[in-house]
Amino acid sequence: MWNKVQETVSYLKENGFTTPDYGIILGSGLGKLVDIIDIEKKIDYKDIPNFPVSTVAGHSGKLIFGTIGAKKVICLQGRFHYYEGWSIQQTVFPVRVMKFLGVQNLIVSNASGGVNANFSVGDIMLITDHINMMPEHPLHGKNDERFGPRFVDMHDAYDKSMLAKMEKIAAAENVKVHKGVYMALQGPTFETPAEYGMVRALGADCVGMSTVPEVIAAKHMGMTCFGVSVITDLGVEGIVEAVSHEEVQKAAKSAEKILSKLVAKFIVE
Ligand code: HPA
Repeated sequence: MWNKVQETVSYLKENGFTTPDYGIILGSGLGKLVDIIDIEKKIDYKDIPNFPVSTVAGHSGKLIFGTIGAKKVICLQGRFHYYEGWSIQQTVFPVRVMKFLGVQNLIVSNASGGVNANFSVGDIMLITDHINMMPEHPLHGKNDERFGPRFVDMHDAYDKSMLAKMEKIAAAENVKVHKGVYMALQGPTFETPAEYGMVRALGADCVGMSTVPEVIAAKHMGMTCFGVSVITDLGVEGIVEAVSHEEVQKAAKSAEKILSKLVAKFIVE
């Protein structure tokens, strides 16, 4: 893994991806951020050595480098989900590459099913913490100390000062945001009513199929993380309704403009 990461980093540096301030995983809800970025470089995943290539409809695969205000950003347009068949280590490969390009701050977005009765479809939830229920762990196996320590502290997985700053920006923009706990399950099935009930009973506010492995890898390497979730469907007791990928995408799109604006402001400030 180490050699592959270094090879990919060298390739990207040679192609002008130099020391970005922020790494951003453009999950659902952040698609419009690409319209705000002054794009300098864009490379298809298939042209990047060692990069996995995303297979999910609506998750195209491009690595983008550019600026938002005075800040340099590198964006993953299209992420790698465990349910696609990648090993869990492969799903976090791009985060490892970001770190060794010089990224210290990671911003991640996702779509999720809300299990908190105060949530509505289209709401934005700032992630305060997570519960990892994925069947595999990205740090499983022999630890490579060049990436980080064997035992990783996770008490501040989602940085409190970044969270407070985003809350302030949202308030100034008059955007209602929730705060809560994200649970990661492997998917690709959405949850049964009983499973949504379990998610809630275990202490989460929403559930999705991504983000947690990436944040774990980032914390392993000493990065600072901020995560945000768009609530695209509800798994609240008594109102669990049918859900489809198309509906998830539609709900995520409805929050895209405002969430992208918030994140852009956050980066500039
Ligand atoms: N469950 C899991 N993942 C999801 C959901 C959900 O309800 N909505 C969007 N991603």
